[in-house]
Amino acid sequence: MNEKWIRSSLRDVPLYYNPRIDAFRMDNNANLLGPNPVVERVLKEMADSDVNFYPTTYSDPLRTALAEFYDLEMDNFIAGNGSDEMLDVCFKMLLQCGEKVVTPYPTYALHSFFVKVNTGNMVQVDLKEGFELDPDEVNRTEGKLVLLCTPSNPTANAFKMEDIVKIVEGRDRPVIVDEAYGEFVRESFIGLVNDYDNLIVTRTFSKAFGLAGIRVGYAVSNKDFAQTLMRAKTPLSLNLVSERIAIAALKDTRFVKKTVRMVEKNRGSLSKGLGALGFEVFPSDANFILAKSPMPSDQLVSNLAKKGILIRDFGKLRMLEDCVRITVGTAEMNARLLSRLAEVLEECR
Ligand SMILES: Cc1ncc(COP(=O)(O)O)c(C=O)c1O
Repeated sequence: MNEKWIRSSLRDVPLYYNPRIDAFRMDNNANLLGPNPVVERVLKEMADSDVNFYPTTYSDPLRTALAEFYDLEMDNFIAGNGSDEMLDVCFKMLLQCGEKVVTPYPTYALHSFFVKVNTGNMVQVDLKEGFELDPDEVNRTEGKLVLLCTPSNPTANAFKMEDIVKIVEGRDRPVIVDEAYGEFVRESFIGLVNDYDNLIVTRTFSKAFGLAGIRVGYAVSNKDFAQTLMRAKTPLSLNLVSERIAIAALKDTRFVKKTVRMVEKNRGSLSKGLGALGFEVFPSDANFILAKSPMPSDQLVSNLAKKGILIRDFGKLRMLEDCVRITVGTAEMNARLLSRLAEVLEECR
């Protein structure tokens, strides 16, 4: 292959994280309580359904269900193949070649990926002490739009609502608030989408809803903005099976509530257990924990993987030296993790 065939701005883009290790995955913040029980029912119901036909072009039934769920209108929503697709759609519609997107640092790794593949550039503003947002510095920083996630990944803390409001109100430019972990906190920006002409909120069924494998996410904005952004979305990108499962999950949220309770209950004991092993544990508002390892994090993660559990290493990143990210599991999963971690630390002493 000739390198010159490739768009010059993408020649250095690596493949994304794709571990080929046969281990139990506590590395990607999926729901460790198991699959949402609505899946089994919907798949049975769909056994003799109409999949020879296409779904609606813009997932109208799911957008209608979302409107009911949030007491908004269907045209406030865009639905698609994971909230990652929603970010892609926003950048496709908003970014001219070479324009800048302002994000906090550190942040979700795929944010920079979507900016780059849509020909933009990232400008990063370091989080302050305690991984807090610096809204004044964000507002001082030139860029076409702002993108941030709260609760923040990988730092796990939710940003102060007033800091985000300061950014939304700070300048005449779009602000995307990625609420992938929004069900784990009380506050949300979804209720404010009709108050601002520049606010976009993205959400997913991959975390608290326990549906990462079906790949469904959505964006919420004022109707005018949402309908404009939706023009850049690949028509029919959300398949019918996933759409029906997502609708059923919105109508029965018992599993989501159970998940949130499980995470709230187990996060504290997992943090305590990690602290007792010598980790420095950062406060979490999400279904995962960021912690600084007492030994080099790359060795910790690879030795733990050999014992059958995968967690995510962020230790090579500035401000996250020797940090690992761990998904909160059930009491049994967390106890097994702590015991394997104790073995790894003991063997490396
Ligand atoms: C902050 C953040 N945004 C978006 C996503 C992707 O969500 P989805 O599975 O809906 O594409 C993730 C997944 O880990 C995430 O952490």
